[in-house]
Amino acid sequence: MKAVAVRPGTPNSVHMQEIARPSVDQVADGLGVLVKVLKVGVDATDREINDALYGNAPEGDDYLVIGHECFGVVEAVGENVKRVKPGDFVTATVRRPGNSIYDLIGTNDMTSEETYYERGINLRHGFLTEYFVDEEEYIVRVPQGLQHLHVLQEPMSCAAKAVHQAYEAQRRMKVWNPKVAYVLGAGQIGLLTTLVLKLRGLEVFTLARGEAPNLKAEIVEGMESTYVSTAQTSMSELVAKTGRPDLIVDATGFSPLAFEAMEHIGHNGVVVWTGITGGERKTEVPSDKINIEWVLGNKLLLGSVNANRGHFEMGIRDLALGDMMFPGVLEKILTNPVDGLDNFQEMMRLLVEDKDALKVFVNVASA
Ligand code: BGC
Ligand code: ZN
Repeated sequence: MKAVAVRPGTPNSVHMQEIARPSVDQVADGLGVLVKVLKVGVDATDREINDALYGNAPEGDDYLVIGHECFGVVEAVGENVKRVKPGDFVTATVRRPGNSIYDLIGTNDMTSEETYYERGINLRHGFLTEYFVDEEEYIVRVPQGLQHLHVLQEPMSCAAKAVHQAYEAQRRMKVWNPKVAYVLGAGQIGLLTTLVLKLRGLEVFTLARGEAPNLKAEIVEGMESTYVSTAQTSMSELVAKTGRPDLIVDATGFSPLAFEAMEHIGHNGVVVWTGITGGERKTEVPSDKINIEWVLGNKLLLGSVNANRGHFEMGIRDLALGDMMFPGVLEKILTNPVDGLDNFQEMMRLLVEDKDALKVFVNVASA
């Protein structure tokens, strides 16, 4: 069967690879789930993998099948699978366990080992192919009523984790009732984080470069949140209006802004970084100012990557509630479909060149 792969280490090596069709009994103990892939989303990580900045092939292979945001339908299950059945819509988690204590308790997203295993990213093949098989543990059911939001499940799980981590860390405060949040960046993670925070009752300001009106502003406003163009209003100017925020989530992938957030967070507040910055950029920061304010204000900086099964389930609940609360808004994120695996060059082109493509995804098959 067909798969879209790269040769890690070789820039711009995206190509079509012929691979064997998997079967349910490849997974031990009757716990296998065979999934027919319907759609796969791609993001900046796939672009960086194709630029050879990131990603490794599984041991013994010289290629890596890419794609980590999947939506599919269960084709067959092993005899001990309980959670899903043929015909169910599903997605899959991305990270697979290593050997640290966190991996052993189902929180692979928190591994303390240097090496991590991620399908479509590092040392494990991904989903940009016709079928894949995995253990029941890593397959998450997607409600029928959310099939129109298909490939958003994985990015949503990352947004759900980022916010959940902030609340977990803030248990240090005994009482924490955040009122104002800034989300930096209005790409998929920024927009989905806006939703998660809005549903938690915060007043959310989502900052991005482009001037409104534009699609990102329309989506943010559709979620009854405020879009702020940094071309018109700087973060300092916004703080002058709103007061310092209680929570800032950076989802820009631009490290100078991630650091700038540190100058604006309020007392006892949290800054969460979610951006993955594959480059070597250096930036100057007012370190004395940040240092003293952070100490005197008991502030916290948190990094958040990936998501485990629990975060996928949280994300699915928020997508369902968000879709009822703000009908028709979330699907606007799904801007750029590409038809068929054969069109992988067009997929990469959109990802690299089209700055307006909020979400590029491949229609692999129909249900
Ligand atoms: C993926 C995450 C992954 C991270 C680091 C992101 O694009 O969505 O699941 O953990 O890259 O590899
Ligand atoms: Zn991703």
